[in-house]
Amino acid sequence: MIARRLIGGIGCTLLPLALAMPASSWAGDQQGDKQVEVLNWWTSGSEAQALGVLKSDLAEQGIGWKNMPVAGGAGTNAMAVLRSRVTSGNPPTAAQVLGFDARDWAQRGALTYLDDVAQSQSWGEVFPAAIKNFAQHEGHWIGAPFEVHSTNWVWANKSLMDELGIEQPESWDDFIASMQKAQEAGYLGLAYGGQPWQDATVFENVVLATGGADFYRQAFIELDESALNSDTMVQAFDRMRELLQYKDDNSPGRDWNLATAMVINGKALYQIMGDWAKGEFINGDLQPGQDFMCFRTPGTQEAVTFNSDLMIMFQTDNEQQRELQSTMARAIASPEFQIAFSQAKGSVPARMDLAADQLDACAAKGYQQVKAAADHNTLMGSMAHGYAAQASVKNAVFDIVSSFVNSSMPSDTAAEQLAMAVQGAQS
Ligand code: BGC
Repeated sequence: MIARRLIGGIGCTLLPLALAMPASSWAGDQQGDKQVEVLNWWTSGSEAQALGVLKSDLAEQGIGWKNMPVAGGAGTNAMAVLRSRVTSGNPPTAAQVLGFDARDWAQRGALTYLDDVAQSQSWGEVFPAAIKNFAQHEGHWIGAPFEVHSTNWVWANKSLMDELGIEQPESWDDFIASMQKAQEAGYLGLAYGGQPWQDATVFENVVLATGGADFYRQAFIELDESALNSDTMVQAFDRMRELLQYKDDNSPGRDWNLATAMVINGKALYQIMGDWAKGEFINGDLQPGQDFMCFRTPGTQEAVTFNSDLMIMFQTDNEQQRELQSTMARAIASPEFQIAFSQAKGSVPARMDLAADQLDACAAKGYQQVKAAADHNTLMGSMAHGYAAQASVKNAVFDIVSSFVNSSMPSDTAAEQLAMAVQGAQS
């Protein structure tokens, strides 16, 4: 059992805590047992499997698990619940969050620093700069990175590709032509989940494919108005409209894993989705290259749009809870966990110093691509998954992209509105 105090103390070196958080209010306090309460949005089959890796790891160390699942992809619902738990003075031991949300909690002074664990496991050397940028705040470690996910992937049904004589498409035009072929043969070209975060996930793929890495960065990370309202963005909306022809009419509200199931079941040829979708194939005992194919969205091969789930821990005066927080952080960052978790989750390790031989073919390729992108400055934060811009901007992008998807809004109007909404969300 790790019995070290965390560097920085509680409250003293932090920014003033803007939220009411009575020291005795955490769940384990009343129970007096060794238990962690963990808020997360990992509710699909593969996500629950992956979470089980952490749960078992802690169980082996005699630590109980109180799960606090909040269904809803990309954590949109989970973040609202987390806010209400913290503001009512009852934070969980820890929570799964994405980059800008972690930063936000740190700015409020709500988090336990993980510096001792980070130092003993050399986090500074093993995690890439793109993740450190969010897992650290003002020189302190504020989150334990579970993995690296990336969003510019296509998941394909292999037997449908074989049946229809479809080769892996290399260009946007080939990509569209292959969906057209599937549609003409009575299948769906694209499995699509009509939720704002999924609309935005697909759209960021289209933006990257249309404008390339520099344009993506300028528009979505630098939030440059001239890129947001540009001919290239208009073209991206045109391409989005083109893609939408290959989805079905029942897509509104559909969860991402149900869309994945449509590819698994041979109803649809492709899904454009982050690599958590691969977890669902693996959870169904399907093999890459044999039962399904994974490839980078045509036109995006040069770059990787990423996100990483961070486990943040909330401040507590309770010594035992702080020890449990350290134990959990140490478990998450360990090499064995990083591999085992990603095997179930569909991701690749957040640590960059591990061998790829225990990863499946998609993950081995993805891991190498993440490393190469990190070296070439083309590892860029996902807009849809909290690594490109603050939540208000992300939500503004969700609004415009979803309005476009659910109406016949012209592309030039959409680009104009996007630029205006993003600007408004920053003021
Ligand atoms: C998270 C993944 C999760 C996915 C679907 C992403 O934002 O990073 O861990 O599986 O959303 O909910």
